[in-house]
Amino acid sequence: MGTSSDTDGRRRLAGLGQPEQPSMARVFDYLLGGTSHFELDRRLAEDMKPVLPNIAEHIQVIHAFLSRAVRYLAERGIDQFLDLGTGLPTVGDVHGTAQRVDPTAKIAYVDADPFTVRLAEAQLHGVRGVTVTEADLCEPASVLTAPGVTGLLDFTRPVAVLAMAALPFITEDDELSGVVAAYRDACSVGSALVCSHLSVVTATAEQVRGFGDVAERIGRRPIWRSPDDFHTVFNGYELAEPGLLRTALWRPELGEPTVGAHDPLEVDTCSAVGMLVSRPVPTALHLVRR
Ligand SMILES: C[S@@+](CC[C@H](N)C(=O)[O-])C[C@H]1O[C@@H](n2cnc3c(N)ncnc32)[C@H](O)[C@@H]1O
Repeated sequence: MGTSSDTDGRRRLAGLGQPEQPSMARVFDYLLGGTSHFELDRRLAEDMKPVLPNIAEHIQVIHAFLSRAVRYLAERGIDQFLDLGTGLPTVGDVHGTAQRVDPTAKIAYVDADPFTVRLAEAQLHGVRGVTVTEADLCEPASVLTAPGVTGLLDFTRPVAVLAMAALPFITEDDELSGVVAAYRDACSVGSALVCSHLSVVTATAEQVRGFGDVAERIGRRPIWRSPDDFHTVFNGYELAEPGLLRTALWRPELGEPTVGAHDPLEVDTCSAVGMLVSRPVPTALHLVRR
């Protein structure tokens, strides 16, 4: 029997028409047990399973990390969050986690995909302290001046910048460095950076290639980065303990829901939380693609 949130989800989808291609945000939602996905998203998710049999655990593991990281920061007094490449804030959302610690916490969600943004807006209608902005995270100047961001967040105070499973879509390392530096330079001391990235833990070269072949149906092929390459994202930040490592090992908590049949330690992703403990040396914005 369906729940009332299933019904809400179906109503939301009914009002939005049909997307032309699948999206990773809705694949994530499907594999997390959400209700905001279409047939073409479910087909893509099912086609990923033979290639990466632990794909559902993969997503559950990074969302469990997201909850732990947001709670970690909120408990240390951070009450502003800029979530880049938000996808669908359905299961394990940032605002729910942050506002359970501090009901006044503010969250600016940003995603480049118009359909995802419309769906997220419908889901978040009436939620206090939250905005949704359609923008390309590779254009920090646009994101950082968007009304949904400037009207909600005060960058003279600490802000946690989140980029969960969105950086694999920036395929050029130079562009990635410029983009993350631009957000870092906009933040004040005491701010934070939270990221997860595709990174080989147990996947074979054949699985990496096969995953790219299937995922490419969203229009872009995500890239994998080694822990050392991913580490450069945190230049200028001090890593919170226990550092950058396999996602399930970042401050695991007792009592978290178990995640299916596969070992959470074997999912192919690394994560970390960086703390901005001193003022960064400004980086020229002209290095960043406009
Ligand atoms: C794999 S999903 C992850 C969503 C969410 N962060 C999560 O962990 O569930 C990646 C999201 O990043 C968004 N994205 C990819 N490239 C982007 C860009 N350049 N700017 C903004 N959003 C982007 C996609 O539209 C998608 O919603």
